[in-house]
Amino acid sequence: MTVSTDIAPDSTIVQTEIAPWWRQAAVYQIYPRSFADADGDGLGDMRGILSRVDYLADLGIDAVWLSPFYPSELADGGYDVADYRDVDPRLGTLADFDALTAALHARGIKVIVDIVPNHTSDQHVWFQEALAAGRGSAARERFIFREGSGPDGSEPPTDWTAAFGGSAWERVADGQWYLHTFAIEQPDLNWANPEVRADFVKTLRFWSDRGVDGFRIDVAHMLTKDLTEPLPSTAELAEIPVDGNHPLLDRDDVHEVYAQWREVFNSYDPPRTAVAEAWVAADRVPKYASPESLGQSFNFDLLVADFDGAQFREIVTHNVALAARSGSSSTWVLSNHDVFRHATRYGLTNLDDLPGDAAVPKRHGGGWLESGADQAVLDRERGERRARAASLFLLALPGSAYLYQGEELGLHEVAEIPAAQRQDPTYFRTNQEQYGRDGCRVPLPWQPDGPSFGFGTAGAHLPQPAWFADHAVSIEEHDPESTLSLYRRALALRHELQTGEQLEWIETGRADVLSFARPNGWRVVTNFGTEPFALPTEAGEVLVASQPTGEASDRVVPAETTVWLAPA
Ligand code: GLC
Repeated sequence: MTVSTDIAPDSTIVQTEIAPWWRQAAVYQIYPRSFADADGDGLGDMRGILSRVDYLADLGIDAVWLSPFYPSELADGGYDVADYRDVDPRLGTLADFDALTAALHARGIKVIVDIVPNHTSDQHVWFQEALAAGRGSAARERFIFREGSGPDGSEPPTDWTAAFGGSAWERVADGQWYLHTFAIEQPDLNWANPEVRADFVKTLRFWSDRGVDGFRIDVAHMLTKDLTEPLPSTAELAEIPVDGNHPLLDRDDVHEVYAQWREVFNSYDPPRTAVAEAWVAADRVPKYASPESLGQSFNFDLLVADFDGAQFREIVTHNVALAARSGSSSTWVLSNHDVFRHATRYGLTNLDDLPGDAAVPKRHGGGWLESGADQAVLDRERGERRARAASLFLLALPGSAYLYQGEELGLHEVAEIPAAQRQDPTYFRTNQEQYGRDGCRVPLPWQPDGPSFGFGTAGAHLPQPAWFADHAVSIEEHDPESTLSLYRRALALRHELQTGEQLEWIETGRADVLSFARPNGWRVVTNFGTEPFALPTEAGEVLVASQPTGEASDRVVPAETTVWLAPA
């Protein structure tokens, strides 16, 4: 067995005696409207989360990230924010938020909230003012209003399309158009306007003063825009390199915004943290992750990878090096509220047989599983087995692990949502061609029975399938072989074993079997293949395994399984 030198030994990571909490945190993402419903209205709420803080503590996570809980008309699952400094009355009050923060802090769990700075909701008081105030007003200057094209201005200013489909421009009553990169109900803010900048500083202080520990920054790479006329067409935009000077994406000047935010973060003790949701090229990530900017940035590479040893190895090597270069730690994600759950992604068996590009949206959020031969086929067991292996691999990596509610129960994507009950704008704006993200946002099952599987006393705002009963928390917590038991064991061990932010690959002689060691000798072996892998005789004791490994004396890692080994 030889040790590879993929990661330079002279890594620039400095391990201070007490590293900041976020560097290697296990962060659990809560989608508040689907976690737990205390008041029985079908929508999850603050007091619902409060009633489950012991569950979160028992799980063994270090922080929760709350997706938006602000007042919202839910045109985009709460990412259309009507007031950045309040709680949606359907979810509770600021006092409920404070009680939740206090309860989490009492259990040693940090709190991260979501900041959505690219756009507001069309219900935000600023947008309502902009509509009322008319052309040329200061109120319209907070957003991006333009005259239309064509002889009478009845065509959108450009042919740009919105992320959820359709035009990125919407016309208002007096004939002007406003830009919305996402849903129609999400007008883009004008980040060239100092008033916009000042208001977000106020918001960051508002939540920091309430004791929030960190922020997740929504589409962090899109805020600043160069909208000098004439505006380029989609075809022209595609020709412009995204190198810091693209009119719409990943502009260098966005870091002026974050430098100002950094001053705010650092004015608190301990400094508030931030993680960027920035879908940018790998070599541009360190800008967001630098300590002068947001400090950490999501790395979504594993989330878009197949269950494949070679892909995983390359991604890990690359991102650990990248994080070291920025002085940050890496982040790892397999599931979140925007993509198909990883158990399902890994269980779709016939993707490669699908014609043309059909497999691409199917892998990442398009249609699947309806009847018909053209649809992907899901092998549930295989998906779960692989998901457990990938999660256990992820939890041993250096850096922060971001987990999404329900993955600890081994949940699959819910495909069987009737059209009338779907909520995601993606579904409607693509003429129902893409199902979008409702299937990973279905309220959690806490019990195997009741009107909403223990989510609340009434129904759930998205329908839960009958198979949720098998994954209920109350069932899984009594089953030592369940995914929940695996996550609990792994997260507890992770606390004990956590060590410096490096890893060394250990050659296994098989491309489909990855093995790495952390500086304290903690070892991980993942068998991505279908043939069992015999552990070398010198390997330490098996601490946890994603599947039963059979007789201890066998010392075999079964197909599609991860094991953690004690330092030898
Ligand atoms: C981010 C969020 C997503 C939302 C979009 C617009 O990508 O994760 O849920 O729809 O931003 O706010």
